[in-house]
Amino acid sequence: MSLRLVVLVSGGGSNLQAIIDACGSGRLDAEVVGVLANREGIGAGPRAQEAGIDYRELTPYVAESRYSYDARLAEAIAPWRPDIVVLAGWMRVLTAEFCRTFELLNLHPALPGEFPGINAVARAHAGWRAGEITESGVMVHRVPDEGVDSGPVVVSEVVPFEPGDDLKTFERRMHTVEHRLIVEAIDQLAKELS
Ligand code: GRF
Repeated sequence: MSLRLVVLVSGGGSNLQAIIDACGSGRLDAEVVGVLANREGIGAGPRAQEAGIDYRELTPYVAESRYSYDARLAEAIAPWRPDIVVLAGWMRVLTAEFCRTFELLNLHPALPGEFPGINAVARAHAGWRAGEITESGVMVHRVPDEGVDSGPVVVSEVVPFEPGDDLKTFERRMHTVEHRLIVEAIDQLAKELS
């Protein structure tokens, strides 16, 4: 039986697209049964809708607590009955209770333990320009608790800087790796869970 995936997004959805494409081509024995965004009008929306996937926008109320938002989020996701909830560019820290409710995978554009939080790619690039690092990378990990971009790593891959890299060229290579790794991680976790 194919795996039921729900994908949470906050942006353009290129990683969502990679997952949709992998399901469509048979690379993944899985189906994206729902996509939920925490922002209105983002690029991920049309990608989900064009693929005929149930798409929902759930924006936080003004000054809403994380606990209240995550309770509504869990309620919105539950009817989709996901085996795995994939955080593909999801820009919110989830509460511990939410993390206990679903099997979660998070994509982070840095190596394990490095550059947690937002703007990881730009911070790594600045670190390289300052001579502090020679490589960064991508990881996909499980999310057992509220830790920011931490948790058991499912897959990771080094992305070296290249002479003359500007942020755009580096970002482009990072995205290519992300799109492959998010699919690999889902495949691997699916095997572990079956
Ligand atoms: C990715 O680089 C992801 O790692 C980061 O946000 C970006 C989302 O890109 N946290 P997209 O929305 O999948 O195109």
